[in-house]
Amino acid sequence: MTVVVFGATGNYGQHIVNSLMKRSIPTRVVTRNSKRAVELFSDYEDQLKNSMLEILEGDILSKTTIKKSLMGTKAVIMAVSAFNKKLIKKMWEIEYDATVNVMNEAKKQGIARFIYISVFYKPDPRSKIPQAELKYTIEEAIERSELNYTIFGASPSMEIFFAMIRGDENKAMMVPGGGPDRLPNICPIDLGEIVVESIDMDLPQRRYAMVGPDVISFTEAADRISKVIAQPIKFRKIPLFPIRVAAFITGLLSYFLPYISKLLRFIILLNTQFTSKIAEQSIKDHELLVSTFNYETVNLEKYAEIYFD
Ligand SMILES: NC(=O)c1ccc[n+]([C@@H]2O[C@H](COP(=O)([O-])OP(=O)(O)OC[C@H]3O[C@@H](n4cnc5c(N)ncnc54)[C@H](OP(=O)(O)O)[C@@H]3O)[C@@H](O)[C@H]2O)c1
Repeated sequence: MTVVVFGATGNYGQHIVNSLMKRSIPTRVVTRNSKRAVELFSDYEDQLKNSMLEILEGDILSKTTIKKSLMGTKAVIMAVSAFNKKLIKKMWEIEYDATVNVMNEAKKQGIARFIYISVFYKPDPRSKIPQAELKYTIEEAIERSELNYTIFGASPSMEIFFAMIRGDENKAMMVPGGGPDRLPNICPIDLGEIVVESIDMDLPQRRYAMVGPDVISFTEAADRISKVIAQPIKFRKIPLFPIRVAAFITGLLSYFLPYISKLLRFIILLNTQFTSKIAEQSIKDHELLVSTFNYETVNLEKYAEIYFD
């Protein structure tokens, strides 16, 4: 039976689809732009032809789309995010309201399995983390549902290290604030594998924090990636002070500049919230993942090879 993925074209969603295709699981992708999705999943031309992979164009804000998306499916995976410039003003509708509507429709259609990709740890709703209240409220709603749910709390994608690399000939990793001493992160390939494996599993826990074995600094990441590509990557720390000033100003204007103010807050928190206590806990969280799920961890070196291929 089919698995439906909302947010399938996103950072994490794409890898969930890759894992579903690897295991030949019939999949329905819901997207607002089917043409772009066909291009993105062009490696699966055969699966698109034989309907192993189905692309359904629609907006999660529409209850009709939700109803159509869920028909004939056995599990729902939600990896939707509105944390971008265009969508941020509709963040609560796209993330919270739609999740509740999807869960209600799943109940109506008798689909028990529901998987949600959230933030690393369930946040305190009053904390300064952007989206804290939103994600907390979504998780509370999922916990109240009678669905057979699993929440996967994703740590930052390993791609964050690569996203900070600039230049072709002379590469530099430019990091605002320099980043924390030890940043928990996960390879998006691992996330896809774990999520897909969990679909038919009877899991002892309702929530898993997703993190790889490498809880490392940006400097270490630059060094390790540079060895893989046999090219030096200079590490450059961008001072945090001007970012703090900009965050303060945009914070006052957050109604008019919601994305930029949240993004700047995120950059500051990237430097401050990942304490050594979280790093220690991340190691335990990773051990739990490898003992619960059958997957082969992709480390930074392996991902660097794939990324620069
Ligand atoms: N990326 C990270 O490093 C990270 C870290 C921690 C937690 N997370 C969590 O992981 C989850 C997924 O995040 P992501 O970064 O992978 O997302 P993303 O790359 O920003 O992708 C967002 C996805 O949401 C879909 N979407 C947005 N509005 C929609 C609408 N109205 N109707 C239907 N689909 C809509 C988009 O689909 P179309 O554009 O195709 O319509 C796209 O596939 C989120 O809960 C996020 O908080 C992410």
